[in-house]
Amino acid sequence: MIIVVTGAGGPTGTAVSEYFRKNGHTVIGVGRDQVDLLDRAAVQAFAGRVEAEHGHVDGVIHLVGGWRGSATFAETDLGDWDALHDLLIRTLQHVSLAFEPLLRKTANGRFVIVSARAAQHPEAGGAAYAAAKAAAEAWTLSLADALQGTGSAATILVVKALVNDAMRAARPDARFPGFTDVRDLAEAIGGLYDRPAAQVNATRLDLTT
Ligand SMILES: NC(=O)c1ccc[n+]([C@@H]2O[C@H](COP(=O)([O-])OP(=O)(O)OC[C@H]3O[C@@H](n4cnc5c(N)ncnc54)[C@H](OP(=O)(O)O)[C@@H]3O)[C@@H](O)[C@H]2O)c1
Repeated sequence: MIIVVTGAGGPTGTAVSEYFRKNGHTVIGVGRDQVDLLDRAAVQAFAGRVEAEHGHVDGVIHLVGGWRGSATFAETDLGDWDALHDLLIRTLQHVSLAFEPLLRKTANGRFVIVSARAAQHPEAGGAAYAAAKAAAEAWTLSLADALQGTGSAATILVVKALVNDAMRAARPDARFPGFTDVRDLAEAIGGLYDRPAAQVNATRLDLTT
């Protein structure tokens, strides 16, 4: 398969890319060095290059993240909203709009975002983050509606937080309760191909339970 991973530069992107490569697939990883996902024209051109070089795409795994928050609701900095809007919503809009036509054309495509429990369980100091993730989820469900009946699917994976080897090495005594290991996340994404698109389209798969 041809798998596009956006936000591929971090530990999560590395784990997801490794998972698909290990299983024999071609991964096209995008970090900020390759394409600025805030530049709509550049994202559109990137999708065009993927189609020209590979003919089709089987998966788009959108992993751009970021967190901002405050101690209390009253202390919320609306500058945080602007930052999260760009990171969590605008990059998703650019990527999904650019790749939707390719996902509609392919036989068994998957589009995936990783959301947070906070979207449905917002806390006082995380208003901007929870609202941005909730917006990203709604956007993804619109894409899912567009993909209905095409053989492709858009799915929301839900985590409390992610943990990777570098985090464990930095805090060897920490237990990271409820966190999802990035390797388990990668397997969950791979597992979306084991089920028919219609079963996973427009669903929220909760990895915290
Ligand atoms: N980490 C968690 O605990 C957690 C919890 C809930 C949900 N999630 C979600 O899980 C996914 C992965 O999380 P993560 O913590 O691994 O993500 P992350 O490290 O915050 O972001 C992943 C990558 O996105 C890249 N990126 C940011 N802006 C970009 C742009 N304009 N163009 C291209 N690349 C850009 C960053 O590259 P640079 O390094 O070059 O900036 C970064 O390496 C995200 O969607 C996140 O929201 C994570």
